[in-house]
Amino acid sequence: MKGIILAGGSGTRLHPLTRVTSKQLLPIYNKPMIYYPLQTLLTAGITDILIIVAPDHAGDFLKLLGSGKEFGCKFTYEIQDKPEGLAQAFIIGENFIGEDSVTLVLGDNVYEQEFADEITSFQKGGRVFAKKVSDPNRFGVVEFDADQKALSIEEKPEVPKSDYAVTGLYIYDNSVIEKAKSLTPSPRGEIEITDINNLYLQEGTLDVAFVKGQWFDTGTFESLNAAIEFARSRELM
Ligand code: DAU
Repeated sequence: MKGIILAGGSGTRLHPLTRVTSKQLLPIYNKPMIYYPLQTLLTAGITDILIIVAPDHAGDFLKLLGSGKEFGCKFTYEIQDKPEGLAQAFIIGENFIGEDSVTLVLGDNVYEQEFADEITSFQKGGRVFAKKVSDPNRFGVVEFDADQKALSIEEKPEVPKSDYAVTGLYIYDNSVIEKAKSLTPSPRGEIEITDINNLYLQEGTLDVAFVKGQWFDTGTFESLNAAIEFARSRELM
């Protein structure tokens, strides 16, 4: 199992905090944000990790994280020239992934849960993690039938079919590379990870599990602050 941390994007929603630095380098209490998704991969035993960054702050990530030796892992770096969608991670990462399966974690997602069992038990298809939220229209939203079976996923729907957001940790088999290549950009000009999830759903191979514990996506000032408070209270416990 390979790991990818997607830490590009323009971070415009957090201006002026992100005017001179990358969102994923902002502090979450006593650590840079990217340490949290990194920890999520490391606690699951993933040690071969690709970090995808935007051109502007690539040097800062290298300076902060280095080769990976300090963390007991190996980092590879790639640049995403433009923020053309989460699914692009699998095209940029094609050579890195090789013949393996891959876990993608978004560089701005903070989880309380550890995912060792969920990642080591993975065999094929796709596995994503949903969480009940109060503002589902900011996310990919899962529609369930009466037996909690996932029927569809919609990206930022105006009228969400449930309160369950797909969170930023995605486990896929190697077919994700070809699936990503088959996508066309959405109206917002991105190739969407939601479209990849729907391809797995159509194949009947998408497992939608639920996040245990707290989860923060840090995409707004409020959720950024909530993540900081969570990290602080955990450190002081
Ligand atoms: O946080 C979970 C949500 O993440 C999912 O529910 C959505 O389905 C998914 O589309 C995504 O939505 P966001 O609106 O939160 O995505 P955002 O554009 O904020 O990007 C998430 C992270 O990925 C952020 O740290 C920036 C980075 N990124 C984003 C894009 C579009 C890249 O590195 N490259 C990109 O091309």
